[in-house]
Amino acid sequence: MKKIGVLTSGGDAPGMNPAIRSVVRTAVYRNKEVIGFYNGFSGLLDGNYTEMNRRSVGDIIHRGGTILRTARCREFETKEGREKAYKKIEKLDIGGLIIIGGNGSLTGGKLLNEEFGIPVIGIPATIDNDLAMTEFCIGFDTAMNTVLDALNKIRDTATSHERTFVVEIMGRDAGYLALYTGMAGGAESILIPEIEFRLDDIINNCKAGFERGKLHNIIVVAEGAGKELKGDKNSRNIGNIIGNHIRNELSVETRVTILGHLQRGGSPTARDRIISTQMGSKAVDLLLDGEESRMVSCQANNIVDVSLDKALNKEKSIDMDIYNLARILSL
Ligand code: F6P
Repeated sequence: MKKIGVLTSGGDAPGMNPAIRSVVRTAVYRNKEVIGFYNGFSGLLDGNYTEMNRRSVGDIIHRGGTILRTARCREFETKEGREKAYKKIEKLDIGGLIIIGGNGSLTGGKLLNEEFGIPVIGIPATIDNDLAMTEFCIGFDTAMNTVLDALNKIRDTATSHERTFVVEIMGRDAGYLALYTGMAGGAESILIPEIEFRLDDIINNCKAGFERGKLHNIIVVAEGAGKELKGDKNSRNIGNIIGNHIRNELSVETRVTILGHLQRGGSPTARDRIISTQMGSKAVDLLLDGEESRMVSCQANNIVDVSLDKALNKEKSIDMDIYNLARILSL
């Protein structure tokens, strides 16, 4: 294999840049050429790419986002789209592809391998941390710290005004970010898509907190929680639905903060830089060792690799010990 391709795809995650840097510099060290595709799979389809060298990844280790930019590419979801990509890869004489992204992006890579035999190594990167068989995805640690910083600030003002705050956190289908930051931020309630809840439970929890003399009440909710409460209006924010309900039922001053996309930006934390760097290098090693369809993974602080197929077919379950502990400590 003379040449490898690399791309970032799906929602960006802090740490993608250090991962690209590590891929490029490890490959160059091992006398390989690297092609970086822009805008995820779209760059592969449109032939929008750049030849990368050690210098193309200088001064990016501390930057959020991705210098290769990213996109969600609908065309690549079709077999025709993937065939077009395969032809481009062949034409460029690329021996294998490293895909840095979340569930959807790695699924695209897996299909490209199954249908056209292109060796693909996935690097899990999503602030949602919802890929199975890895404890950490790139971006999760930075996003947790960003959310925690916001929760600390909200707590200051919540206590000063003796107010209830509902803080909506990213996570369309997964509650890891909300769960871990809710615990680390000392939230009174944590609501996540994986665990059903009733609006009455939130009200009772608020009342119990006030009776125990709590000065504030912070409810952390993942954006994908309580889908059934949104009815057919799936675009309604769950944060606002809960905030309105508390106002109506308890007549307490309630504010809603939707943290939104600021959670996806920012300079990667030390932990994210370290795992991105290790994962990028491991991905190159796997390709050069002749591996075909693997995902790099972090398990018990070690960087290992697992079957891409198995990782994508497994659901990552919520750690109920963490959920229960957060509940007990918030009483
Ligand atoms: O990357 C994952 C994620 O941040 C989800 O938590 C969120 O629902 C989604 O992406 C938002 O996507 P977009 O940037 O397309 O609005």
